[in-house]
Amino acid sequence: MKFLALLLALLSSAIAERLNDEFMSFVTLPEVYAPRFEVQYHGRERVGAGYWFVAPYGKMIPKDPTTGRRPFHVGPHIYDQNGTLIWTGSQMVDNLWVYDFKAVHETDGRSRLSFIVSKNRTTAPGRAMVLNQNYEVEFETSGPDALEEFDIHEFNILPGSKSALACAHWTKEMSLADVGRPQEQSFFIASGFWEVDMSTGDMLTWWDSSLPGNIAIHESVYFGNDTLPEEPPGHDYLHINSVDKQVDGNYLVSMRFTNTIYLISGNDGTILWRLGGNETDFDQDFTFSKQHDAKFLESNGTHHVISFLNNASDDQENEELVSSALIVALETGVSPKTARVIARYNRPDNELARLRGNVQRLPNGNIFVGWSDSGYHSEFSREGDVLMEARFTAAELLTYRAYKFEFVGRPNISPALIASVIEDGERGLLTTIYVSWNGATDITSWNFYAQEGENHQRYLLGTVKKTEFETRFTAKGSLDWISAEPVDYDGNVLGKTSVHRTATPSHWGETQDAETTTSEHQIAQTVGEPGKTAESDNVSESFPLLIPIFGASVAILIGVCWLATRRRFRPLKHLYQRVPASERGDTELLEFQ
Ligand SMILES: *[C@@H]1O[C@H](CO)[C@@H](O)[C@H](O)[C@H]1NC(C)=O
Ligand SMILES: *[C@@H]1O[C@H](CO)[C@@H](O)[C@H](O)[C@H]1NC(C)=O
Ligand SMILES: *[C@@H]1O[C@H](CO)[C@@H](O)[C@H](O)[C@H]1NC(C)=O
Ligand SMILES: *[C@@H]1O[C@H](CO)[C@@H](O)[C@H](O)[C@H]1NC(C)=O
Ligand SMILES: *[C@@H]1O[C@H](CO)[C@@H](O)[C@H](O)[C@H]1NC(C)=O
Ligand SMILES: *[C@@H]1O[C@H](CO)[C@@H](O)[C@H](O)[C@H]1NC(C)=O
Repeated sequence: MKFLALLLALLSSAIAERLNDEFMSFVTLPEVYAPRFEVQYHGRERVGAGYWFVAPYGKMIPKDPTTGRRPFHVGPHIYDQNGTLIWTGSQMVDNLWVYDFKAVHETDGRSRLSFIVSKNRTTAPGRAMVLNQNYEVEFETSGPDALEEFDIHEFNILPGSKSALACAHWTKEMSLADVGRPQEQSFFIASGFWEVDMSTGDMLTWWDSSLPGNIAIHESVYFGNDTLPEEPPGHDYLHINSVDKQVDGNYLVSMRFTNTIYLISGNDGTILWRLGGNETDFDQDFTFSKQHDAKFLESNGTHHVISFLNNASDDQENEELVSSALIVALETGVSPKTARVIARYNRPDNELARLRGNVQRLPNGNIFVGWSDSGYHSEFSREGDVLMEARFTAAELLTYRAYKFEFVGRPNISPALIASVIEDGERGLLTTIYVSWNGATDITSWNFYAQEGENHQRYLLGTVKKTEFETRFTAKGSLDWISAEPVDYDGNVLGKTSVHRTATPSHWGETQDAETTTSEHQIAQTVGEPGKTAESDNVSESFPLLIPIFGASVAILIGVCWLATRRRFRPLKHLYQRVPASERGDTELLEFQ
């Protein structure tokens, strides 16, 4: 029996360790498992300022058998440049998958966040959401009523934040006359885009690829003269995946399956030119295929600089051996029009980004590229030196795009604080305090306070530098009426927790046996570190059969530990006490991180 318990304990700790390698968990946000990044710097002093904006999705952690809930681990996330979590919006979107998460800066200094929430399995078609710097919803749209599903590729808030662009796709039956078969029809997935007024929600523009004179079926690499017709949803022959707008009102659109970037007139919707594919209007010194995220960097009507992710493959074929970000100069006032590569940034690991990805030029001229799979992203200097690479340690997770922006986040909720008193063997009574503030940027340290009673003056226990999402402070003695304040680099106090009574750790549990829960958390506190404690009942999907074993072994492990530590960790309700005024000066900071 002892041997079995040991075996199970080893097994469960191995699984917990793997979960720990891939996700962070926190005392102050117990329902969240945030993906971890592995980060490599090759030129740290040259990277641009800002936070990473990603929206992990893919691998689903199984539901917790005891609560029936899945931990929150997908959705919009902000990280700092060390891979430290700054904001998880997973709970806000109820663990739904999210795409194209980014920040938008206004000339008046305000910023917004935007992202697309995927189709909700029950009813809703998906939607774009825009948040302010307090993480409050400012604008939401599900797009034109006729669309069954919000296209996940793009929600592009245009300069001035008056309107935004999104892609669209829908099923349509079309004649095959274009490929010499006028008697036949097939279903196709047509592509389009729309522009929405962000104050009224009105549709300002609607463009349809399938109207006569727009994009012909034969432009697709996935529809030939002999291709058989299909039933709904039909051939995905164009696959729009980005849309942008030029200062003069024309739209830049990428269609992945024609290998072509189109400029579409803002006046009448006609195609003004094609770049790439078999019908290019340009004299090009390069080719590209299966491109993503075509965006204007500069444009004055006749001279344009655009960026996109290229080179190129998808789940069916490879055209090239390595993917790259391209910066291309276009001259459209001459005949023939010319397109020249100004810069090419190859994927640092020499792989292909099979699907998805994006390119962003940072204010300092660096190039930030999201390669999507495993959340792999990298930053290059303008000259092409690889300065940084990062990826999720959970390789099955991905993010559709990855961006870097400076951003100031000031959540409309108070910082979270959990304080408890334990008795720790020879060290006696200890007060442990955990704090975090989901979404608050610029915190460099936390001040911790205690009071003698509700209306008493608070006194400073100590200050701890913030290095992780969650910050822990441990003081000797049993302290009560605890509060904390986040402080920025210049010493400004950014917020304030409410004043908390300390709890014995048994108060943390909900329905479980109090003493068992107490032991568990005491162990976590004693051996763990913030962001690294994961005494969890959840295991990764790779071990579905191990869930019951894991659950059982955790219970046994807890039982064994509880027995072993029973004398050290007594339930503390009866030991609970307030800090006598005379002991204030003795409060000793034992450790911090
Ligand atoms: C990241 O880590 C480095 C080295 O560990 C540290 O000097 C730096 O302050 C950290 N940066 C942030 C933004 O936390
Ligand atoms: C799905 O949409 C319906 C209707 O809008 C809503 O009531 C429900 O809460 C949504 N579910 C999720 C998981 O978002
Ligand atoms: C496909 O059919 C069109 C229309 O009949 C014709 O112009 C074209 O040459 C054909 N292409 C091939 C590759 O046979
Ligand atoms: C262009 O033409 C080639 C040769 O006929 C064909 O293989 C390819 O699928 C066509 N379409 C595109 C978008 O490249
Ligand atoms: C793809 O990238 C490789 C390596 O950088 C380059 O040699 C090739 O010309 C590129 N191909 C296209 C079509 O851009
Ligand atoms: C556009 O930019 C190009 C190159 O910078 C310049 O030569 C040209 O005169 C500009 N055209 C206009 C209309 O400003």
